[in-house]
Amino acid sequence: MVCYNQNELLRRKPAARQKKREIEVVVLDTKWVKIPAHNPDLQVLKTAGEIIQNGGLVAFPTETVYGLGGDALNPESAKKIYAAKGRPSDNPLIVHICKTEDMEKIVREVPAQAYVLAERFWPGPLTMIMKKADCVPAETTGGLDTVAVRLPDHPAALGFIREAGGFVAAPSANTSGRPSPTLGKYVYEDMNGRIEMILDSGEVGIGVESTIIDLTEDIPVILRPGHVTLEMLQEVLGEVCLDPTMLESDCQQAPKAPGMKYRHYAPRGELVIVSGDRAKVSEKIAELLEEKRGQGLKTGVIVSREEQQLYKADSIKVTGERTDMAAVARSLFRILREFDEEQIDCMYVQAFPQDGIGQAVMNRMLKAAGHKMIEV
Ligand code: TXA
Ligand code: MG
Repeated sequence: MVCYNQNELLRRKPAARQKKREIEVVVLDTKWVKIPAHNPDLQVLKTAGEIIQNGGLVAFPTETVYGLGGDALNPESAKKIYAAKGRPSDNPLIVHICKTEDMEKIVREVPAQAYVLAERFWPGPLTMIMKKADCVPAETTGGLDTVAVRLPDHPAALGFIREAGGFVAAPSANTSGRPSPTLGKYVYEDMNGRIEMILDSGEVGIGVESTIIDLTEDIPVILRPGHVTLEMLQEVLGEVCLDPTMLESDCQQAPKAPGMKYRHYAPRGELVIVSGDRAKVSEKIAELLEEKRGQGLKTGVIVSREEQQLYKADSIKVTGERTDMAAVARSLFRILREFDEEQIDCMYVQAFPQDGIGQAVMNRMLKAAGHKMIEV
């Protein structure tokens, strides 16, 4: 564990506040603290919680991706989160809680479905949209009268949320537009100097963000696919719809989750998905790699273990066994960042079947590719 001096942290705060009055941008001395996911040091969580209660920001691990936390009930904290991420302030934040009954404090009327879902999927990667209570500031919800609520399945996150007062607003801890961080070092890369502290418990388990379900409609609607799949939700709720904007590039409707309309997860080079018959896909990817290498461009490819011998590229990223979609989900954002580190110009990946977690993977890949998909 990295050691830090708590007194130093407390001494530093008034100075940082004073500076803010003089100039807009405050460069903070970000503390990067390694903690175990299970049984983390209570004192570290208390210090992190105190930062949140004093209006500061702390990045923390969850089972999906790292979050950038601030006090969900403090409008100033929401403003700081938007500034640190460079995120448009019409894009609402998810409020993270540490016990199910706390949703009653921030939701106007909890629908019966929410209790059923909480019983089945919480703690876990499911976010529910409900009507907000008055105590949740408009800054946290991007001006909407609804609030997104999630109870993460991560012991350190739950301890931190408890110490922070129970309501932590947190988007993914990346700079707006970049892949969500699945490792503490990527949080540091994006947030160093912008937030007070990073709690780092290593690589996350799932790797794609939580499923978002809107419970304010007559029929619940999935706004973002994730580890909790359509089939799992239908099993519990009966009828569930998918937001039509989720997977299509040419849909004229605005997505109901404002964040889903922004270009996301984008690597700096060009990512292209190739879809179709397996043998033809491999042939097409090999052909494209050769063509781009011939043009002097740096190439990358994302492959399963079985396929790694098939290609010649500057960077070959292996996700796991061919059928292991959980491995693809876990490694996708890390691979996109690694391609950036290696300054890859052109990247190729096969399309994956859109069932189970595959739907979340394809949703993120299509966004990262700016919907560039070749059918063969
Ligand atoms: O797994 C996750 O959900 C991660 C971890 C940190 O918990 N968080 C996360 O937050 O992915 P963020 O801000 O990157 O994505 C939240 C999405 C955005 O697309 C936002 O527009 C949508 O949730 N959202 C939040 N509140 C909403 C609301 N009241 N109505 C509709 N969409 C909402
Ligand atoms: Mg995000």
